[in-house]
Amino acid sequence: MTKDDTQGRYPPADMTDGSTFAPASLRAVFAEVRTDRLILRQPRSDDGPAMFAVHGDPATNRYNPAGPDPDRAASEETLRRWLRQWEDGGYGYWAVTPLGDGTVLGFGGIMRLTWRDRDVLNLYYRLTPGAWGRGYATEVARTAVGLARKYVPSLPVIARTRPANIASIQTAERAGLVRRPDLDTEHIVFALGWTPTR
Ligand SMILES: CC(C)(COP(=O)(O)OP(=O)(O)OC[C@H]1O[C@@H](n2cnc3c(N)ncnc32)[C@H](O)[C@@H]1OP(=O)(O)O)[C@@H](O)C(=O)NCCC(=O)NCCS
Repeated sequence: MTKDDTQGRYPPADMTDGSTFAPASLRAVFAEVRTDRLILRQPRSDDGPAMFAVHGDPATNRYNPAGPDPDRAASEETLRRWLRQWEDGGYGYWAVTPLGDGTVLGFGGIMRLTWRDRDVLNLYYRLTPGAWGRGYATEVARTAVGLARKYVPSLPVIARTRPANIASIQTAERAGLVRRPDLDTEHIVFALGWTPTR
């Protein structure tokens, strides 16, 4: 889809949030994206076990002070929240699967949220340890950032991580985000498209 595809219905009637495209148009772009090696797809309500496999694993939460999800119910609650985001906005975090194989390797992508009183797209990635070190997170993050800048250009992309989480830092940088010490909180922050407010 290109910007021209929406001509005649721009701005869309349901455009209330500064996004360039209506949720239905965004869903058409984001719901299933093929990269060189991966399918990035909208999560499904039956992804609860995969969500818990990834989010309940201490290894994937080494730098997360909240720790891993304690049980499947916690992961399923997160999944329901993510699905509502897809429902409302037409995009959100993806389930990451290899091409030709439905196994869920993890989750990642962009999700809209409010941070520092501004609407932003949060860049996220969490993969099962067996999939680490093959460039998959970079592939997910680059794809997410590329689509974000093209289809939701009004919103900055941010990534927040712990200073010790080198893999996460490298992934944010590989995706083109720029280190922003001025935005740091308890996390260190990377951003793209964050402009000063007037
Ligand atoms: C962060 C994470 C998604 C990276 O996934 P990945 O698929 O292994 O990442 P990639 O293979 O694309 O590598 C990205 C970069 O990080 C580097 N990297 C990966 N693992 C690393 C490690 N353990 N130590 C140092 N650098 C590492 C890679 O070399 C690469 O940098 P390069 O391009 O300079 O070579 C994965 O480690 C993960 O799921 N961690 C747990 C969840 C998490 O911390 N998410 C971030 C929350 S803020």
